[in-house]
Amino acid sequence: MEPEIGSDQRDAMGSANRLKLGLFGANCSSGRAVTTVPERWSGSWPDCVRLAQMADQAGIEFMLPIGRWKGYGGDTDYQGATLETVTWACGLLAKTERLTVFGTVHAPLLSPLIAAKEFVTADHIGEGRFGLNVVCGWNEGEFEMFGATLREHEARYEYAQEWLDIVKLAWSPREDFDFDGRFFQLKGVRAKPKPYGGTRPLIMNAGASATGQAFAIRNCDALFSTISRGISFEEMARHVSGVQALAQQAGRNIDVYTVGVVTCRPTEREAQDYYQYAVVDNARLGGGRQHPGDEEHYAANALARRIPTSPQSPG
Ligand SMILES: Cc1cc2nc3c(=O)[nH]c(=O)nc-3n(C[C@H](O)[C@H](O)[C@H](O)COP(=O)(O)O)c2cc1C
Repeated sequence: MEPEIGSDQRDAMGSANRLKLGLFGANCSSGRAVTTVPERWSGSWPDCVRLAQMADQAGIEFMLPIGRWKGYGGDTDYQGATLETVTWACGLLAKTERLTVFGTVHAPLLSPLIAAKEFVTADHIGEGRFGLNVVCGWNEGEFEMFGATLREHEARYEYAQEWLDIVKLAWSPREDFDFDGRFFQLKGVRAKPKPYGGTRPLIMNAGASATGQAFAIRNCDALFSTISRGISFEEMARHVSGVQALAQQAGRNIDVYTVGVVTCRPTEREAQDYYQYAVVDNARLGGGRQHPGDEEHYAANALARRIPTSPQSPG
């Protein structure tokens, strides 16, 4: 018999810290630093394992990969070599003891039942430490690679809703079920085993638009939100409380995560110098190309669709 693990243990990610820390993007070459410096992150499997084991021992709570299929080219090919995130998570979960490891999965590119079973497999390997970051896609070039069409924005989230409903049903204690939706019609679905220990993996989403955030509020345990350039600390704090108030209105609780960049050196002066060298002076893809900027894209997207910073209907 598997030991029972409670959903509060999953939320806590095995630690008593209220502020959870994670490492983002280690599955990609260059990580998240658009730089030509030769010591930039390799994204190789041995380096990922070493990093995960250091994080595990240091008490970092989680690792979150980037779902990226196509790099940006140029000499350094920023994020050009990427390890697939669920299989990456399986390997890291097997080699760590406490860390929660997420997979970042594009709902439109994978059958929900294959996905649900992959997640359950990862979750058993990690004994309840797997988490799902579900993304709907935004990069047309990546979708063309699959011969897939990026749906119109609202439809992306309608599709993802059905997809996630199916994943959750497959995880639930239900026996055979049918699903009759707009995008999926499934008959006699049977999915075993269930996630580890009688609970389900944590679910995160990084929607920046009002629709994306409403999706997170309805379905997820956490919203991964980026700090747009120029936004003040107070505005970000208002944004976080706005999201949490919307969740409470809907009878849910949601955690909010964000991204920070840490340059670590023995002294502050050395850290500033290294930041200047690696992130400012050598901030190029190589070959003269500039980074097209996924974060810029997210930020522009969020502004265009107006991030709700005060409580309003999540619908
Ligand atoms: C911090 C952060 C991380 C994200 N990570 C990924 C990712 O790994 N892969 C991906 O395809 N999209 C990623 N996205 C994009 C989001 O899933 C989403 O498409 C984007 O924020 C636009 O929001 P919207 O869909 O609500 O318009 C990320 C967004 C943010 C803010």
